Amino acid sequence: MTTVVFGASGNVGKYVAAGLDSLGVPVRLTSRDLSTAGFPPSADAVAADIERPETLSAALEGAQRVFLYAKPDGIDGFVAAAESAGVRHVVLLSSAAVVTSDPTLDPIAQVHAIVEAAIEKSGLDWTFIRPGMFATNSLWLWQRTIRENGIVRLPYPDARTTPVHEKDLAALAVTALTDPGHEGRSYLVSGPEALPLRQQVRHIGEAIGRDIVIEEVGANQARTELLKILPPIAADGILAAWKAGAGTSPVPTSVEAITRRPAHTFAQWAHDHAADFR
Ligand SMILES: NC(=O)c1ccc[n+]([C@@H]2O[C@H](COP(=O)([O-])OP(=O)(O)OC[C@H]3O[C@@H](n4cnc5c(N)ncnc54)[C@H](OP(=O)(O)O)[C@@H]3O)[C@@H](O)[C@H]2O)c1
Repeated sequence: MTTVVFGASGNVGKYVAAGLDSLGVPVRLTSRDLSTAGFPPSADAVAADIERPETLSAALEGAQRVFLYAKPDGIDGFVAAAESAGVRHVVLLSSAAVVTSDPTLDPIAQVHAIVEAAIEKSGLDWTFIRPGMFATNSLWLWQRTIRENGIVRLPYPDARTTPVHEKDLAALAVTALTDPGHEGRSYLVSGPEALPLRQQVRHIGEAIGRDIVIEEVGANQARTELLKILPPIAADGILAAWKAGAGTSPVPTSVEAITRRPAHTFAQWAHDHAADFR
């Protein structure tokens, strides 16, 4: 009854692996590079790359369930390997973009739609977790300037987003992998609150005990800054989401209803990640 966790060192994958382990589910961890993954020496761990199908049969051997990241380049090879290994159920970390954007116009939506379609037309049972913006995005967006000089530069400080804690996504995945009835279901997921960006920054400041200055900048300057850390597709996606974000409210899928645990607030997320911002 092994469950394979792809990306078991990733933000979400590591909590999926820990959550399954805490329930006594036999877990196999995968990484493309076991020497840097940081897995415990006692773990059942296999090197696997979704984009290199020849690595997948060893990872999937004897497994019935899989937690998967969306990699369109390898998805057909993955489906073939999973079916031949006897995998029954795949829980995919997908994206809200598949339903909130047009896949012909939005490359992020397209990537996830390709993966969903390949799994849907396979003989595998599936559950799609479709999150909006991760709270962890704040790390690569704001960590450097907060650490260096206590500043965050924002083009739309009053735009609201509904950041979701990676622990809640993992809890959903663990529930879908261990409880019956989640096959054939897609869950659009957000965090529990629609928070202005300036309030998110304030929560981080409170978590680290430091006043963080918000500097309002124009969209062009923000794009230039974002392009230093992100490819254009991601930078433009973030800016568009912020611009459209005013008034956003949390989506109706309740993490709490599915996992039977309250969803984490952004303040809790900031507290969990305080060391990352100090
Ligand atoms: N950020 C957002 O706002 C957002 C919103 C909606 C959906 N998403 C989805 O969530 C994903 C990010 O999740 P995260 O924050 O947990 O990511 P993360 O921390 O960057 O981890 C990604 C994991 O995927 C594994 N991986 C990457 N390429 C792989 C491959 N070819 N074969 C096998 N494993 C591979 C990596 O493992 P190794 O390096 O150890 O191999 C890594 O552990 C995005 O890619 C997107 O699909 C993100």
